[in-house]
Amino acid sequence: MVVIFVPKESAAGETRVAAVPETVKGMQKLGLSVQVERGAGAAAGFLDADYEAAGATLVDAAARGTADMVIGIQTPPPDLCQRQKAGSYVVCTLMPGMNLPSIRALRDGKVTTIGMEFMPRITRAQKMDILSSQATCGGYQAVLLAAVYLPKMFPLMMTAAGTLTPARVLVLGVGVAGLQAISTARKLGAIVEANDIRPACKEQVESLGGKFVDTGAPPDAETKGGYARETSAEFLKKQREILTAHITQADVLITTALVPGKKAPVLVTAEMRKGMKPGSVIVDMAAGQGGNVEGSVSGQRVVVDGVTILGDTNLPAQVAADASRMYARNVLAFLGEFCKAGEVKFDLKNEILSAVTIVHDGQVRHEPTTQALAAQGS
Ligand code: NAI
Repeated sequence: MVVIFVPKESAAGETRVAAVPETVKGMQKLGLSVQVERGAGAAAGFLDADYEAAGATLVDAAARGTADMVIGIQTPPPDLCQRQKAGSYVVCTLMPGMNLPSIRALRDGKVTTIGMEFMPRITRAQKMDILSSQATCGGYQAVLLAAVYLPKMFPLMMTAAGTLTPARVLVLGVGVAGLQAISTARKLGAIVEANDIRPACKEQVESLGGKFVDTGAPPDAETKGGYARETSAEFLKKQREILTAHITQADVLITTALVPGKKAPVLVTAEMRKGMKPGSVIVDMAAGQGGNVEGSVSGQRVVVDGVTILGDTNLPAQVAADASRMYARNVLAFLGEFCKAGEVKFDLKNEILSAVTIVHDGQVRHEPTTQALAAQGS
């Protein structure tokens, strides 16, 4: 029987887990046997006893070495990759460019390596899309964090002590995370404005009760896959000019703008940020990819000129129960693609498997990673 191993994540600050009791049951329905490392779900609120009740076997970390497939959140460090047996699988959020030593170990150990973030954005794979599910959690949490740090309440309040005006929230980048941030901020009663360079976003912002700040759309703003393209320096200059007045008015600024494979665009310069009121809060969700805001620090919370800038890089881990639930459901749906009646039917002719398989049979199948390894002489 194919044995799945669910580890306790080892990365600092990682509280999520790649399987929850509900998906343990689902994996068994696919004919898979599930082993869960003791304590794997504790930080997300899932107890060992709940996994056992769902039919999993509780094991120690050493069980990784005998498992047929490891499903995790983060890329395992190289020493753990080396423990996997040849011909086994690892399914995780890979970020290969940032984890070359692990990729090398997986390649040399002949471990088939799946990067869930490479899931194609086709209708059939929507339920397997971890980028969307985790961005939903991140967008929500960004607003709650901002609300905690802001020395002002979000809603309009008419009280015996007078009227309090609502907070003004500006969201830059209206993908999955940005839309969830708009929706959450609106539910808390804020006045919300938002900007993106993809023309389709205007209607989406308005349908959530936000006001679209139109900075125009560069020609060819969007790829076929719906992602943004990098803009020219000239466009960015014009965009910043229009955004400046809106940034000055905002109590909360949430930035999520990303361009796949590139450093995040700097939408807010230090000069623009200086116009913000003391006490206002910025959540730079792109901080881990270079940042949308000058002065944000990846993984840190800093105060500059009285403005709090939050550069948290793992917001989904702050809502670990639901983030794990969604991630685990994405993984279960993915396993259903190629695990049938207890057998792994792995065929790289399958469009989904081909897109997400980064290492197979001792070969790296992702050109930028192959090049990066070659540049290191391996
Ligand atoms: P993302 O995380 O790559 O980027 C976030 C947002 O930043 C995007 O909306 C992008 O247009 C915006 N952005 C980039 N440069 C900018 C700039 N200079 N100024 C302002 N905004 C900028 O995007 P995400 O959230 O992954 O979504 C991208 C697209 O994929 C969306 O169209 C979404 O609807 C689509 N999508 C499709 C799915 C499917 O078909 N299965 C699933 C999820 C998303």
